[in-house]
Amino acid sequence: MQHQKQSVVEASVKAIEWSGMVLRLLDQRLLPGEEVYVDHENAQQVAKAIRDMLVRGAPAIGIAAAYGIALAARRIGHSDDWESALANDFAELESARPAAINLAWALRMMRDRLQRLLGHADVPGQLLAAAISIHESDIESNRTMGKLGMQLIRKHQKAPQNIMTHCNAGALATGGYGTALGVIRAAHAAGLVDTVYINETRPGLQGSRLTAWELAQEQIPALLHVDSAAAHLMKTLAITWVVVGADRVAANGDVINRIGTYALAVLAMHHGLRFMVVAPSSTIDMSLEVGEDAAVEERDAEELLLAGSQRIDPGVPAFNPVFDVTPADLIDVIVTEKGIVERPDGTKMADLMSHKHLH
Ligand code: MRU
Repeated sequence: MQHQKQSVVEASVKAIEWSGMVLRLLDQRLLPGEEVYVDHENAQQVAKAIRDMLVRGAPAIGIAAAYGIALAARRIGHSDDWESALANDFAELESARPAAINLAWALRMMRDRLQRLLGHADVPGQLLAAAISIHESDIESNRTMGKLGMQLIRKHQKAPQNIMTHCNAGALATGGYGTALGVIRAAHAAGLVDTVYINETRPGLQGSRLTAWELAQEQIPALLHVDSAAAHLMKTLAITWVVVGADRVAANGDVINRIGTYALAVLAMHHGLRFMVVAPSSTIDMSLEVGEDAAVEERDAEELLLAGSQRIDPGVPAFNPVFDVTPADLIDVIVTEKGIVERPDGTKMADLMSHKHLH
């Protein structure tokens, strides 16, 4: 694998780039200190990048996996039985980080495409075109959601507002532009943002390392605070919205997202703030009846034990669940590219997914 430093900071952050030959992923573990792009040439390298969180954020994981299949097909070149030839690559990518449902979604799209291609002369070229199209349509969805979310913020109040966000649901977590940060970008462009309050998001610090970095690049006014300051800030400041992304949305509207999201939804309800979840329909899993049925991803407890360069030895075991479930009844609105769902429930989610929904 080749390491390459980008010298130019682009106005719009790109976590995923198809170079024409390789998949270039921004190593998000090194941000904001270093901007290093790592070239990926095969599906195994892409699966490792997902497992190690070099690339993270549900839509970005799905897009990277789709390119992983395209890379695998190119290495194979020709086959009389493409499904068997790619079976191990599909399996390895699928198990890399299953909590982000966009991973399964993107691989399903690639599998469907493959099935329609049997007998085609250029399967690798067609699978690459499919991956590029998943990537491009994610950016398009983000722009649509940005506009829909911004309109909701404007409907509530025309003056600039304080908005809280959690984790990183920005350009880095997606094909580009972002889900929650897409809404914040659009709201800022419309003059609706006073200050964005960023939860640092322990233990991975996606808030302080990634969201703060993205907002600073676009000069969107923001303040960083520890996660445990959220209640105090909601009580003492005029914050109107909490806007977050999602890793998986259940058929009843429950939302699985980075640990701490549930706490923010409870706090928002208590303090009378609105709670918005922004996620493309590829994040909605109608096969999951309720959020509690999903297995919550647990990561290595070591992630908790570093304080700066010092490793703490707490003398007790550490426990590191990294996602939680926010019940639908704590959510004011789910924004998707297909439309918005206010006060989500099973019927409204089913309407949205069957295209009957109008916004
Ligand atoms: O563990 P991470 O960093 O992949 O968690 C990501 C999040 O929780 C994001 O907020 C979520 O994936 C939405 S990404 C648009």
